[in-house]
Amino acid sequence: MAKPRKVKAAVIGCGTISNIYMENLASKFSIIDLVGCSDLIPERSAARAQKFGIRQMTNEEILNDPEIEVVMNLTFPEAHFEVSKAALLAGKHVCVEKMMTVTLAEATELMDLARSKNLFLCTAPDTFLGGGWQSARKYVDDGLIGRPVSISAVCTTNYSPNTPMFDVNPDFFFFPLHPGGGVPYDLGGYYIHNMINLLGPVKRVTGFGGNLEPNRFFSNPHHPWYKEPFIVNTETTIAGTLEFENGCVGTILFSSDSSNFDSFSVQGTDASLVMFHPNFYSGDLTLRRLSSAPAPMFAPPTPPAQQNVIVRGVVTEHKLPMLHGYLDNNRGIGLADMAYALRNGRKPRLHGELGYHAFEIIYGILESCRTGQVYEMTSRCERPAMIRASALVATAQEITLDD
Ligand SMILES: NC(=O)c1ccc[n+]([C@@H]2O[C@H](COP(=O)([O-])OP(=O)(O)OC[C@H]3O[C@@H](n4cnc5c(N)ncnc54)[C@H](O)[C@@H]3O)[C@@H](O)[C@H]2O)c1
Repeated sequence: MAKPRKVKAAVIGCGTISNIYMENLASKFSIIDLVGCSDLIPERSAARAQKFGIRQMTNEEILNDPEIEVVMNLTFPEAHFEVSKAALLAGKHVCVEKMMTVTLAEATELMDLARSKNLFLCTAPDTFLGGGWQSARKYVDDGLIGRPVSISAVCTTNYSPNTPMFDVNPDFFFFPLHPGGGVPYDLGGYYIHNMINLLGPVKRVTGFGGNLEPNRFFSNPHHPWYKEPFIVNTETTIAGTLEFENGCVGTILFSSDSSNFDSFSVQGTDASLVMFHPNFYSGDLTLRRLSSAPAPMFAPPTPPAQQNVIVRGVVTEHKLPMLHGYLDNNRGIGLADMAYALRNGRKPRLHGELGYHAFEIIYGILESCRTGQVYEMTSRCERPAMIRASALVATAQEITLDD
């Protein structure tokens, strides 16, 4: 058996998230040979290049280098289209951070271009390839909760542009103020990808909400621009409903206008699975089912009989074990999976249809917010193939991607 040839990759966009990406791409995944990076701000690419021992390059140098097969696009959402398009035109496979683009027309153009050139167009988030989400998928697919009926996600966050947190570090919250970068896309993207991973494609959606308060002002007295106005140019709060092809129904609530709360659960005929924030690769998975013995309705909680089991009157909670590897911060695992897909002639798990469908779900909910009508989805996608269960750790776990 021949060892797969490494895939030479370069990163465009050396901002906040590039550090963990490059750390992982440079050392965690043996299939990747990270050779260079670029940014509109050369000091940023210089710093990353020095830190990871790779070449500081310009976008053009990356696109013109025949050895580089794959571009990891880590620019902010408004630049995703331009950078991904240039890379596809240069014959590179592309992996782009969430969401694919800012408009559906741009996403459609990129998909057509990738298809016509027979290139991969993968889109993050890749957190659903983490051990927590692969385990959740296996539990649901194996029937642990019975037949899945519904799914529900709430994510409200103090990304809000007029919180003191934003005020003291506005650069950190740059793109949530801009088209395609608000919380419905930014954090919503994680939940929607995971909903598709768990339950498959969506048929139609509805929504309420939008950009609830475009005119804001800096509210922290410590900030030099205290009390100065600014405009938020993206949607900040959406509530939506989803009808899946398999008959399940779902609800979402994503907001940066209200303070922090998150919950994510899938309910079945036999039990519910309470999950964790999909910004992470693993976390608690809790099965909630009826207590095994008939319990009086108002009985006091019974002390736990076993570790990881909590009886709450008529409901028992079980903490479920992780069945897969990749439990820590694995940003870049989607690119590694794409590299194996390239070498092994299979579909990447972050395949373009998935990213496009996820983007269209959020777009459709926003369309419904505007029109008051049900939005019928025009795209569909296959669920990405599950990674095989494994207890392997550290460098050995990479074998689970080589399928
Ligand atoms: N920040 C996070 O925690 C986080 C987490 C996961 C995913 N993401 C995603 O990663 C992407 C980047 O996020 P970020 O927080 O690192 O953003 P950022 O604004 O910190 O960095 C983006 C970088 O891209 C560069 N850039 C923009 N246009 C460019 C172009 N045409 N050519 C070269 N460089 C260009 C900018 O100069 C900047 O340095 C976004 O799509 C975001 O959704 C971010």
